[in-house]
Amino acid sequence: MHTRVLGALALGLAAVTSAATTTTTPMTFTSMIGAASGDDDGVAAECSFYANDTVQNNCASDCGSCFNPGSRKGVKCNGAGSQTGYYCPADGDEGDLTFACMDWTFGSSAMRAAETSFRKSSGENVFFGVGTFGTADDEQNGLGACYRLTVDGVAKDIIAQSINTGHDVAGNQFDLQIGAGGAGAFNTCAGSDRSMYGGGTDVWGCQYGGVDNRTACADLPEYPQDPSPMQAAGDSLIELCEYSWDENVRLSGAGMDAGICAYNPTLLNVARVQCPSELVAMTWMQRNDEPSYFKAPEGASLKGFPVADDVECKSYISGAGSAYCLTRMMDCRKPSGAFKDNVKEALMVEGKKVVQTCTSDGYTRIDVQCGCTDCYC
Ligand SMILES: *[C@@H]1O[C@H](CO)[C@@H](O)[C@H](O)[C@H]1NC(C)=O
Repeated sequence: MHTRVLGALALGLAAVTSAATTTTTPMTFTSMIGAASGDDDGVAAECSFYANDTVQNNCASDCGSCFNPGSRKGVKCNGAGSQTGYYCPADGDEGDLTFACMDWTFGSSAMRAAETSFRKSSGENVFFGVGTFGTADDEQNGLGACYRLTVDGVAKDIIAQSINTGHDVAGNQFDLQIGAGGAGAFNTCAGSDRSMYGGGTDVWGCQYGGVDNRTACADLPEYPQDPSPMQAAGDSLIELCEYSWDENVRLSGAGMDAGICAYNPTLLNVARVQCPSELVAMTWMQRNDEPSYFKAPEGASLKGFPVADDVECKSYISGAGSAYCLTRMMDCRKPSGAFKDNVKEALMVEGKKVVQTCTSDGYTRIDVQCGCTDCYC
């Protein structure tokens, strides 16, 4: 049986906790995205800074044959072997790398400011998030689409954008980016000098699921190796981790059959909805085939939703899988939605075709209008 009782109880606790720990006042959300340009409404196609020599002039007046002209500006990625823009690499020993942005994390100052702005404009009182999702019932496996999730024990629905999709296209599990939610198989959060955060991986908890209790959040590094942008944004990894416990988007697996970290809240309902512009401003990715509503009408939920009363996430049972689970992750890694080959041009809004990723500080956006230094790509 699903009830909101847990949510109500835990919300009471959360209110007490956040009164004691929240010290930052949210700024307006548009001022918080760390882009090199202050222009939030797209920019004219202008790619001259990609040009690496004077022989070719494909970049001079426009973006040549680049894939994503008109995207929001950012800093240039100087990756090894001239890799740049949407081809800025996720790994490597030399040159710039690109990463997931930390203000995409559930409960970041920018996300909370965006939620407030959206509530004022739409009347919808929801949480925002991003994560990994896959469904075979969408032409692009859900990539770039937004889903409204009703989660057992969570006080408000979550509107989350899928910016990453993997092999699992079951369409009944959403993997939300939360503070120390599990660094996964391709961790670029910690454990190397090229990682976003310093120190080892031990304090990040389980590879899948991350830290398994609120207390363990305190052992995390508070800021990336380059700390200033996160400090300026008013975020801290420790607080982001604590916030996810306070809002019940994660559960402890202690004492459960499948062991610590394998317990997750149940997804009660999932429906595709329009991506709020405030959330698009975080990722700079947008589909052109969006529904017209932020709350789906009855009958418009994804297959299998809303769940029957006896359906629950059974990840706490060894080998039971993650169907109907809100799982969690934080791998700090460039998501699959940031690679041009993963998106279908015909489904994307001009200038918002791929996710705009961040430098190693987790906040500063890189420029993803082009993928090469001759604008012939
Ligand atoms: C908290 O979780 C961590 C793993 O993240 C575990 O090592 C530790 O034993 C847990 N502490 C308690 C008190 O359960």
